[in-house]
Amino acid sequence: MTPDRTDRNVFDGELLYPMGPILAIESSCDETACAILSAEGEVLAEKVISQEAHAAFGGVVPEIAARAHLALLPDLARKTVEASGLALHDLGAVAASTGPGLIGGLIVGANFGKGLAMALGKPFIAVNHIEAHALSARLPGVSKKNISFPFLLLLVSGGHCQCLAVEGVGDYRRLGGTIDDAAGEAFDKVAKMLGLGWPGGPQLEALAKEGNPAAFAFPRPLKGRAGCDFSFSGLKTALARQIEPYGSTALPRSVAADLSASFQQAVADVIEDRVRHAFAMMEPPPTTLVAAGGVAANGVLRTSLTRIAAEHGVPFVAPPLRLCTDNAVMVGWAALEVCREARRLGLPMPDDRAVRPRPRWPLSDMWERFAMESESL
Ligand code: KG4
Ligand code: ZN
Repeated sequence: MTPDRTDRNVFDGELLYPMGPILAIESSCDETACAILSAEGEVLAEKVISQEAHAAFGGVVPEIAARAHLALLPDLARKTVEASGLALHDLGAVAASTGPGLIGGLIVGANFGKGLAMALGKPFIAVNHIEAHALSARLPGVSKKNISFPFLLLLVSGGHCQCLAVEGVGDYRRLGGTIDDAAGEAFDKVAKMLGLGWPGGPQLEALAKEGNPAAFAFPRPLKGRAGCDFSFSGLKTALARQIEPYGSTALPRSVAADLSASFQQAVADVIEDRVRHAFAMMEPPPTTLVAAGGVAANGVLRTSLTRIAAEHGVPFVAPPLRLCTDNAVMVGWAALEVCREARRLGLPMPDDRAVRPRPRWPLSDMWERFAMESESL
């Protein structure tokens, strides 16, 4: 059987799987998170712990993250089940992020999820963390109208910076991505240079409100270039050069504010240009522009993205911040979307107990799960 890659917005089957709510786990970076969603996608409970032990190191320490996931996850899962008002045996499936991400944390989350699924005799769904970000905007209630395929996703976080054509569940085309730092990483490194805390993005944005975005003429890397790749390391170096003359003396607050505002404006301008190119690379054109990841919280960037979407006559949707940053609700929702797509294609309920956690897991591999199942029918 060849899977039907057309009409993917049409689903008229019954929601037969999973047979009950789903418990989802996220542990790919420094957030330990659990959520329970009904089979229809209603969020019944959600809990997230942002690990604080990393702040002292100015970045996520993988070994500390893995140990913290191990210490936090069992109790967090128990409390999430309690908060949902359900009992463990009410669950219809368990899902976890199994990549890409920091392998230690992924192993903890995946093994916990698989163990629980096995003990309950329920299926386990392995979720690609980026796929979960990509589909999060389709969670019921996030936008006024259900977002249909294809849509354009800008994913901008501490670890990722890419544009994706989301053509269907499991069907993603990477239009371009960063060739050096992720956008959030650039914000964090620059914030560190300016003596701000970690993570730096929100603090840099706050300081930028006091500054002049035109005070420093920072470069706009790759602006106008074909495609939609990104680059931020030159911008970071340009800012470092402006700080050099101050040596070990503290940067005056007004200068730090001007540097923050000018840097933020340069990042927003570059992303705006790259997203414009991404629009031109999509055929058929996207129904919606979606932004996800922590940097999507940035107000100046949101203004730019709202403008581009309006120019193209489509809505701009950014899920609320709790769904933009790492969370388990998006993992549960992606698992439900995968189940639903399997059902739409006439495939059995997925069960991924054999899937191993992977630090890298390209989105281009995601269609395989449906294609392989179809061949065996
Ligand atoms: O998605 P996220 O919570 O975690 C991952 O990286 O997966 O994103 C965190 C990143 C950090 O780099 C943080 O500095 C950045 O998002 N960030 C922001 C803002 N809020 C968070 N960057 C710019 N402006 C913000 N308001
Ligand atoms: Zn993420």
